[in-house]
Amino acid sequence: MNTAAMPNTEAVQALEFPIPPGVYAERVVSVRHYTDRLFSFRITRPQTFRFRSGEFVMIGLPNAEKPVFRAYSIASPNWDEEVEFFSIKVPDGPLTQHLQKIEPGDTVLMRQKSTGTLVNDALTPARRLYMISTGTGIAPFASLIRDPETYEKFEQVILTHTCREVAELKYGEELIAATREDPLIGEFTAGRLHYFASTTREPSAHMGRITALIENGALFRALGTPPLDPASDRVMICGSMDMLKDVRALVEKAGLKEGSNAAPADFVVERAFVG
Ligand code: A2P
Repeated sequence: MNTAAMPNTEAVQALEFPIPPGVYAERVVSVRHYTDRLFSFRITRPQTFRFRSGEFVMIGLPNAEKPVFRAYSIASPNWDEEVEFFSIKVPDGPLTQHLQKIEPGDTVLMRQKSTGTLVNDALTPARRLYMISTGTGIAPFASLIRDPETYEKFEQVILTHTCREVAELKYGEELIAATREDPLIGEFTAGRLHYFASTTREPSAHMGRITALIENGALFRALGTPPLDPASDRVMICGSMDMLKDVRALVEKAGLKEGSNAAPADFVVERAFVG
């Protein structure tokens, strides 16, 4: 028997359906709703579960014989005792219509294998790392900005987050504040972790899509950094399909080359969970 797949005893009592092989059954520790479209939750972490910051894992609910699984970026760093996720709520989404109702004590299923391209290993070291995100695309970066390895590889770490409305920025704002104050990570981030937020459908300090703000230079003026340059800059991109396509085009225009685990280079992209 694979003991790694053994669920929590507490969780097992509540389950109507058998747990599929290769899947952990974990207990929801906390849930936080930000808007009617966004929420985050934390689950217990199996002792045997290892992952690299920035990776994603498949998540499901024990509500069917063959549960629906969706890819979720892990938002917590790899040293955290719990596993955190940041999710959209889709009214008729096969998973999120149920997932958005979870409460502490409920069971969430998580496949044992994590993977992904938004990892430090896929980039070569450089002066600056830009993490460009929209919506729930901030999740993998929530993991990476709390990982000391990120600061070993890059002098400056810049997280950008663009959402439709101001209320949708709250998860990121609280994340940045908590990361800077964290007794473990705070010493790495001091003067090196930078945050840039913008909104597209409601006024805020910076308005506009990140693509427009890169193109017109507003992002670089606000940060006091020069335009993108492969000699000094690396980029990770996470958001919707269209956002990935448009940001990728800008980054490639600046001369950056796509990297992978096998051949690290200048930038990497990954689609944020949708549906
Ligand atoms: P917009 O309001 O102009 O659509 P969503 O919640 O739909 O995933 O969007 C998150 C953010 O991503 C929104 O601010 C949205 O702007 C922006 N966005 C959507 N498509 C693109 C794109 N192709 N390039 C850059 N930003 C985009």
